Amino acid sequence: MAKIAVVGAGYVGLTTAACFSHLGHEVVCGDIDAERVARLAEGDVPIVEEGLEQLVVDGLRHGRLRFVVGAAAAVAGVEFAYLCVPTPQAPDGAADLTFVESVAAEIGPLLASESIVVNKSTVPVGSTRIVQRALRRPDVLVVSNPEFLREGSAVHDFLHPDRIVVGADDPNAASRVAALYLGVPAPFIVTDPASAETIKYAANAFLAAKISFVNAIAAVCEAVGADVTDVVLGIGSDKRIGHDFLRPGPGWGGSCFPKDTRALVRIAEDAGYDFDLLRGVISVNSQQHARVVDKIRDAAGGSLDGVVVGVWGLTFKARTDDLRDSPSLAIIEALRREGAVVQGYDPTVERELDGIQLCVDPYEACAGARVLAVLTEWDDFRWIDPEHVGELMSARQVVDARNLLERPAWQRAGFTYQGIGR
Ligand code: UDX
Repeated sequence: MAKIAVVGAGYVGLTTAACFSHLGHEVVCGDIDAERVARLAEGDVPIVEEGLEQLVVDGLRHGRLRFVVGAAAAVAGVEFAYLCVPTPQAPDGAADLTFVESVAAEIGPLLASESIVVNKSTVPVGSTRIVQRALRRPDVLVVSNPEFLREGSAVHDFLHPDRIVVGADDPNAASRVAALYLGVPAPFIVTDPASAETIKYAANAFLAAKISFVNAIAAVCEAVGADVTDVVLGIGSDKRIGHDFLRPGPGWGGSCFPKDTRALVRIAEDAGYDFDLLRGVISVNSQQHARVVDKIRDAAGGSLDGVVVGVWGLTFKARTDDLRDSPSLAIIEALRREGAVVQGYDPTVERELDGIQLCVDPYEACAGARVLAVLTEWDDFRWIDPEHVGELMSARQVVDARNLLERPAWQRAGFTYQGIGR
């Protein structure tokens, strides 16, 4: 079993650390946030992620997982150092490598000879070489091993991935990284660093494109009087297309798709290729937010000024507490710009958010509302009694941006129902 340092205890770092310790490795996870480290050392996981807390608690109990403050404290004596620090979006759309580079410079002098630094953060093509330079350690090799974890099922995705991608110039380094996944049943794709980095961006861009495509088809369905649910069933049954990632909605969001699609446009542009197709994918996504706002305005009778809108769901998707780049927040901001008063509820959000009256349950969010908008696909919302909701509202109007609700039941309760693409 190997000694592994994981730098960064965010979604990716924490999942990587907990899962590697679960596989039997000895893992030290370092983060600069001392408070976060103190909580984690007590087995208190600060994010909603199924199965993660159990793995952290098990790792701590068996002594295979430790949390320390800082990157330097994590890397002493390890054979592998995983970089899982954020790569936020710079104002020009490119990925900002400041954290990655500064951690590399910090740990470079401390790494054991022949150890391997592994990039798991989503980094622009060419970053493996940038990290190699920042380390100033020719005896330490850098390998790219991108993650494909979905929030909400990150632990499952780590332990049961569709594939494991390892990008390295040195075949021996690639095999050493691949060996860390002993016991994980998945095909390995071993390639050069630039290809591994491109795989990550291409995968996210393709998935985002699939969703934008179905959202565009939903708009066509509305225009021609077709039902997108049946259309998706019809096209998804073609094995070459598949059913996954064809759910129409308020647009994609989260910590990856918005940032990575823009970064890939930029990477291509810098390399002399105009990625017009991907710019279209991004633009369909912003239009989708606007289309949901249009539906809510229509439901309110043409103007949002002073209109109370009840919103169910604030996170960028269900089964997470993550609000980063949430379509729900973008839509709420647009509603507020037009003068709407927003009462919001989300099962995982407790802290106050600018401009949203946060409610303790879905019913409170509907009290006195003229329109109800369902923006995140939390299962709980599906089973709420429309009759009860209708009694609380000042009008029976619902915009179901996730096609989540039982349309006939809401119509029977007197609601005017607007979904997406049907
Ligand atoms: C994504 C990728 O799936 C993962 O492989 C990568 O490592 C990180 O980015 P995540 O951000 O957790 O994962 O979310 P994901 O489940 O992919 O959903 C992204 C967005 O697309 C969400 O806003 C979701 O609501 C939306 N979506 C997804 C749809 O609107 N329709 C779909 O059919 C699927």
